[in-house]
Amino acid sequence: MKNINAVEMKNISMIFNKKIIANKNINLDVKKGEVHALMGENGAGKSTLMSILFGIYEPTEGNIFINGKEEIISSPVKATKLGIGMVHQHFKLVDIFPVWKNIILGSEETQYKQIINKKKIIEDLTSIMKEYNLEVDLNAKVKDISVGMKQRVEILKILYRKAEIMVFDEPTAVLTPSEIDGLLKVIKELKGMGKTIILITHKMAEIKEVADRATIIRKGHYVGTFDVKKTSASKLAEAMVGRKIIEIKNTHKQNNNEDLIVIKNLNVKKHSNNKVLGLKNFSTTIKAGEILGIAGVEGNGQIELAEALSGMTKVDSGKIYVNDKNITHESISKRYNVHKMGFIPEDRHKFGLVLDANLITNVALQDISTKKYSKHGFINKTAMQTHTQKIISKFDVRNADAGFAIARQLSGGNQQKMIIGRELSRDNNFIIIFQPTRGLDVGSIEFIHSEILKAKEEGKAILLISYELSEILQLSDRILVLNSGQIVGEISGKNATREKLGEMMVSSVVE
Ligand SMILES: Nc1ncnc2c1ncn2[C@@H]1O[C@H](COP(=O)(O)OP(=O)(O)OP(=O)(O)O)[C@@H](O)[C@H]1O
Ligand SMILES: [Mg+2]
Repeated sequence: MKNINAVEMKNISMIFNKKIIANKNINLDVKKGEVHALMGENGAGKSTLMSILFGIYEPTEGNIFINGKEEIISSPVKATKLGIGMVHQHFKLVDIFPVWKNIILGSEETQYKQIINKKKIIEDLTSIMKEYNLEVDLNAKVKDISVGMKQRVEILKILYRKAEIMVFDEPTAVLTPSEIDGLLKVIKELKGMGKTIILITHKMAEIKEVADRATIIRKGHYVGTFDVKKTSASKLAEAMVGRKIIEIKNTHKQNNNEDLIVIKNLNVKKHSNNKVLGLKNFSTTIKAGEILGIAGVEGNGQIELAEALSGMTKVDSGKIYVNDKNITHESISKRYNVHKMGFIPEDRHKFGLVLDANLITNVALQDISTKKYSKHGFINKTAMQTHTQKIISKFDVRNADAGFAIARQLSGGNQQKMIIGRELSRDNNFIIIFQPTRGLDVGSIEFIHSEILKAKEEGKAILLISYELSEILQLSDRILVLNSGQIVGEISGKNATREKLGEMMVSSVVE
């Protein structure tokens, strides 16, 4: 039998608002039963191409063939009928519903049938879970399960709808390292059962582990399709960004500066449960020109530390000093404007950007009432615009329309570059940086890392919280390891290795 392609997208073009070329003449062939990676820089057009395949957008031009037959995929319902399922980066689940109900929501079953058939539905789901080794608690409410579990629910959802072609749009960006391992196993399992998988990820290690072939697009154009086993990681990266990538490293230049931040015996209630402490008796200092890295498994006090230092959360007890001034009870805006804080939050959609405002507004946000942008009650729009344009050029924010683009329209990675650019361009003394490169392409990561090191050289005190050990190792002067809200280890950046940090991360807490 001739080996037909499960998916063939031919000469696909997608132009938004008559001017933004998101896809131009893209070709994508995916063989039945393979794991096919879709790679490209932030804003290259990956999500757009997959949204076309899933019937969310109608392409401006091009043809799509599913299992050899040309199809017009006019809606996600049609895509589902054709056996295409998509696991989106932002989950679409109803928090207060149990898992099983979320899975069948919007499927063929009518509401009445749902209630009558609950037993049958649970039986069906249980057998799917067994078949694919995808255990979840079907009766748990979605709000009570972890991010990794929510993703499994999304996967079950499309398996329940009998998807044969499964699209994963940056599924690992939101997961912890152990959840990532779990997901990669699931993907291998799915492939073993004959499913066809399209995987979008920026992480080369993941592509190397599970993908058979990779198609690379750059700035909306098709670059090529590569055999992953036969192509080195650096070659793939080069094809993606169009140049060689160098790994940025801290030179650990000695500084004898003063302590800029002093934290004493900080106790902070847990983010998810205010009956217990999430950060316990935390003390440290950060010098001007020092990058203090915080390593640890997610959920061990990182959020509490970032929120306490930025002023988003009240502390239970303890003190925070910036330049010898006690800021423990200062408001967020005072921390920004008087004490010159910069803050790159973890949850960028919730706290980083006003998604329905344009970029100029987003850049000017914290400064709008200060002298910088207003004079005698008038807002200086030109100054706002010029500053925004500077950030856009420097941080290579794509399709920003000179700052007039609405934040929501930017690709995920470009939204992030915008926030990082804004915070690193502010005149600040200290910067709290939480997971700065989650979801960014290799070229952007390289650039952001060099900018963080520049901020260090300018004498800023930097708290870097990251779940990526490589990032902590590359950038930190000093590293603290958190476990269960406590510091369980400290090591200089120079002496740290992945192995040593790994050991410290799982070492038990001395009570
Ligand atoms: N609805 C829209 N309206 C206008 N422009 C859009 C829209 N959706 C996407 N774009 C633009 O199309 C381009 C491609 O975006 P897309 O989201 O496909 O990129 P991506 O490759 O998925 O990037 P990332 O890795 O950052 O997620 C971007 O420059 C984006 O600004
Ligand atoms: Mg995307």
